[in-house]
Amino acid sequence: MSSTELSPSSLREAFGHFPTGVIAIAAEVDGVRVGLAASTFVPVSLDPPLVSFCVQNTSTTWPKLVDLPSLGISVLGEAHDAAARTLAAKTGDRFAGLETVSRDSGAVFIEGTSVWLESAIEQQILAGDHTIVVLRVSDITVHDDVAPIVFHRSTFRRLGQ
Ligand SMILES: Cc1cc2nc3c(=O)[nH]c(=O)nc-3n(C[C@H](O)[C@H](O)[C@H](O)COP(=O)(O)O)c2cc1C
Repeated sequence: MSSTELSPSSLREAFGHFPTGVIAIAAEVDGVRVGLAASTFVPVSLDPPLVSFCVQNTSTTWPKLVDLPSLGISVLGEAHDAAARTLAAKTGDRFAGLETVSRDSGAVFIEGTSVWLESAIEQQILAGDHTIVVLRVSDITVHDDVAPIVFHRSTFRRLGQ
């Protein structure tokens, strides 16, 4: 064990020891699917039904989503390691090779994922170089047979049996 100087890269490495799932947060904007992958998803409250995730303040994607009435959150499955990278790509179609479902509300969900949460932004809290986004869930769809992907130390893993 050793002590390491605080820096963005040492913090990213240290935070990466905490295993997380990965979500896609997505919606249609003028008929075009817009979204990103995020590993900072946290369920927050049961009553009212709230979840959160953190978005980088430098994100160029978030401003396209922030004023929409409805966003789709999909919990990525264990087969989605490539999809998680595609959904985070700086260039190209983030939905390439993915089947999606678009609701009338504008929320977009990824087929083959374990949980869909239709949600609306409730609150945004500036927190350093990220913003904590709190969303209210209006609808849930669960696919029990899909195991989630796990993001740990910059690597995608599967749950052990
Ligand atoms: C596994 C994984 C987890 C990520 N988690 C987050 C996150 O929690 N918050 C975030 O703002 N971006 C996260 N990203 C980055 C975004 O998916 C995306 O790359 C970024 O928003 C692209 O920049 P843009 O918003 O300017 O298009 C993650 C990327 C990957 C591959």
